[in-house]
Amino acid sequence: MKKINVILLFVSALCFVSCDSVTYDQISEVNTNPTYAANVGPVFHSNCSGCHNSGGQYPSLANYTEVKDAVENGNVICRIDTQTCGSVMPTSGRMNQGTIDMIKLWATNGYPN
Ligand code: HEC
Repeated sequence: MKKINVILLFVSALCFVSCDSVTYDQISEVNTNPTYAANVGPVFHSNCSGCHNSGGQYPSLANYTEVKDAVENGNVICRIDTQTCGSVMPTSGRMNQGTIDMIKLWATNGYPN
């Protein structure tokens, strides 16, 4: 195989890999109508409910009703975004801005399930 072909093959393979690995967060950033089932729930499930569940850390954030209530009446947004009310959540570090904005948009839109 000619050298140029090898290079082309490598470049296209690289493109395929990078094009294929669009993360959930990147998708959420452009989503104008996030729902609990498709967008918000998976974020809380993977970032919060390991600690925040019934019998675990207050508030429990394990289902739609609990997450909606905690965002609406608690300080979830403050903890994940500005942290003016306490240390950042999740404890492992601030989530990326696209994810935070998506959750805020979900609240603004009236918590679609
Ligand atoms: C590793 C365990 C852990 C994870 C994961 C975690 N938290 Fe927490 N969270 C805690 C602990 C411990 C506290 C109590 C200490 C404090 O207030 O900082 C707390 C406190 C909070 C509080 C304050 C509750 C109150 O009013 O007293 C909120 C809101 C909160 N977490 C939201 C979240 C959200 C949202 C996520 C996911 C984005 C998350 N947490 C992920 C352990 C965790």
